[in-house]
Amino acid sequence: MQNKIVIITGSSGLIGKALVQAFSGEGASVIGLDKASPSVLPSNCEYIPCDLEKPEEILRACESIKKVDVLINNAGISNPTNSQIGTVKLQHWNKMLNTNLSAAFTLSNFLAKKLRDSKGSIVNISSTRSLMSEPNNEAYAACKGALNSLTHALMNSFAPDVNVNCISPGWITSDEVSDSANNQHPSGRVGAPEDVANLCLFLVSEKARFINGQNIVIDGGMTKKMIYVD
Ligand SMILES: NC(=O)c1ccc[n+]([C@@H]2O[C@H](COP(=O)([O-])OP(=O)(O)OC[C@H]3O[C@@H](n4cnc5c(N)ncnc54)[C@H](O)[C@@H]3O)[C@@H](O)[C@H]2O)c1
Repeated sequence: MQNKIVIITGSSGLIGKALVQAFSGEGASVIGLDKASPSVLPSNCEYIPCDLEKPEEILRACESIKKVDVLINNAGISNPTNSQIGTVKLQHWNKMLNTNLSAAFTLSNFLAKKLRDSKGSIVNISSTRSLMSEPNNEAYAACKGALNSLTHALMNSFAPDVNVNCISPGWITSDEVSDSANNQHPSGRVGAPEDVANLCLFLVSEKARFINGQNIVIDGGMTKKMIYVD
């Protein structure tokens, strides 16, 4: 990652911080975009405050960036309202779409020339919720499903200059969880933010250049575990 410039959205959050650490640890210059300030920032990293719900703020941030090798669309909100179906407000639905989906498209669109010039990569951070659901999770599931589709659409538009892939994490936390929470996973534990960061590093490396337009699930096996109760 030496001499690479990596943009990470949602860089102040759980997975974002791990991405910042992982990429800066490999020598990249990292630019974090988040509306929340970072608690710590490694020396080769820059933070640009940006509300990704606002295209004008995204454009301002993109114009200030001269070169980009990797764009990681990681920022997201899960369920700001916990609304039950039948009571969901359109403004909440739109907030979720703007943050979790439109921002990824807008950044890819504004940065298209710079990404092409550097023969770069995009990674979209989706979710296993793009593939399976719990009740009252429509907006999040819809955004993440659309992010998977946006990934292969962008891959075709950018080919062969820019690789575009998507990562769908399962349960990722840095908190202690119960034994039953860990043991329900075929891998025997919940995921750590570093699991996602390591996969992301691999996906943008030259060794992964033939992986393109894909959604890679990283969930300790949970989406491949059949669950029927007798
Ligand atoms: N943690 C998990 O279990 C998990 C599982 C699957 C997918 N994901 C996805 O991974 C990504 C990161 O999740 P996380 O667990 O680190 O969440 P998090 O809440 O810890 O971090 C999200 C970050 O996005 C930022 N953000 C939210 N709205 C924003 C906006 N409008 N403008 C700018 N920044 C904004 C927040 O400030 C925060 O720093 C999300 O897309 C999430 O959907 C997480």
